Amino acid sequence: MAQSRKLLIIANRLPINRAGHSSQGGWEISPGGLVTALSPILKEHGGAWIGWPGTAGTHLRPFTFDRIGIIPIRLTQKEVRSYYEGFSNETIWPLFHDAIRPPKFVSEWWQPYTDVNWRFARAAAKQARPGQLVWVHDYHLQLVPRMLRELRPDIRIGFFLHIPFPPEELFAWLPWRRELLQGMLGADVIGFQTTADVRDFSRAARMFTSAAGGDTLLRYRGRRIRVGAFPISIDFDEFESIAKRGRVIHRALDIRRRVGSTRRILLSVDRLDYTKGLDARMIAFEQLLSRRLATVDDCLLMQVAVPSRESVDEYAEIRGHIERTVGRINGEYSVPGRIAVHYFRRNLNREELVAHYLAADVMLVTPLRDGMNLVAKEYIATRTTNSGVLVLSEFAGAAHELTQALLVNPRDTDGMVRAFDTALHLPLVETRKRISRLRSQVRQHDVFHWANSFIEALMQ
Ligand code: ADP
Ligand code: G6P
Repeated sequence: MAQSRKLLIIANRLPINRAGHSSQGGWEISPGGLVTALSPILKEHGGAWIGWPGTAGTHLRPFTFDRIGIIPIRLTQKEVRSYYEGFSNETIWPLFHDAIRPPKFVSEWWQPYTDVNWRFARAAAKQARPGQLVWVHDYHLQLVPRMLRELRPDIRIGFFLHIPFPPEELFAWLPWRRELLQGMLGADVIGFQTTADVRDFSRAARMFTSAAGGDTLLRYRGRRIRVGAFPISIDFDEFESIAKRGRVIHRALDIRRRVGSTRRILLSVDRLDYTKGLDARMIAFEQLLSRRLATVDDCLLMQVAVPSRESVDEYAEIRGHIERTVGRINGEYSVPGRIAVHYFRRNLNREELVAHYLAADVMLVTPLRDGMNLVAKEYIATRTTNSGVLVLSEFAGAAHELTQALLVNPRDTDGMVRAFDTALHLPLVETRKRISRLRSQVRQHDVFHWANSFIEALMQ
């Protein structure tokens, strides 16, 4: 089996965080799509993970957590500002998400980005055994494949980008576009979420470097590089089995009872990020109420938002904006015992998350742009009784696979209102047909299928 060879994962973030308020130095699995996807692979097959523990200046020795070898990388306060918040999250993140916020091009952030990429590459070069498979992840570490190849030409290097790759016209804005592409081209296999990302990357590579060839096979400096779409997924069986636990089902009923058992719940679960379209979704819900297509007696919007990157201005702004919007809608439409928008700014543990999915009649996943979106797939996996409706943005990578969802353009408010209305009134037969097809799709294309396909490509 492909994964029988141990893996070395390199990602900006370690898969664990310091646990809540614990002063005893406890750790817990951290949220986010990348971690959710890779933890089960490493737990099952063994291997190690090189990454940053998430706080500046922390110096930690390697250790093992939940059968995963953890190799922490130290970042200074200045590097967190320039490499992580700055170049990764104020330049690359917005640029690669259709420039929803204007990307900032700050020369002073480039050198620290390069330095930190070297630090990760050196740690991997030291750790890797001869011939080992090394899998580098995401936009923080786009230079690592080239650096690692220079240090260790004997190992197989894979790179996977979890976020979208932008169209050529946008990518061309980046002053360091050639260096970034050369960095990624150090890999043997370069993976993206969708075929559109593959096409955009290969076009950019041909345009700005000496790479030549077709979209899925590039020749570059005497090497052949495979470029492919490997849509990331979830551990379907795990979500399904949590959804069948008695206490989780009870908790879902409890949530429904608390908000009013006859009211329908439209649920959203996101990192509090401007790419996720929380504001557009709330405005569409407000319109649903103002046009009297629904009332607070019929339904409510429940938004669970986990705080994210709060030291970056745009994230603090979106939080303020969302909180004002929630206040405005509730001020206008809520009545005693009937709150229109239930807003929870917190991280839910896995069972609590699944209980919310189970309680929801309609799941709203309407990002303005998203590499994949695992929340949509998690919701589907928990619908063990084939009930529930998924409303999904066309601009999430998941829309390429989940074609049986009600697909929407999140910038089209009228279209969103219509989709919410349709979701609330979809005939049962139609609901079951759609959800059961979606379930087979996600069951067959789970996270193990994703990792296997990538690793098999890497071993060729
Ligand atoms: P992104 O990778 O941009 O954060 P995804 O939807 O792909 O978006 O993945 C998000 C992951 O984080 C999912 O596994 C989801 O369950 C988890 N998550 C998001 N918000 C919360 C929350 N409020 N509480 C718990 N888990 C969350
Ligand atoms: C997305 C990115 C990941 C990132 C996660 C959480 O899923 O693709 O690389 O880890 O968001 O963001 P954070 O900045 O907290 O690591």
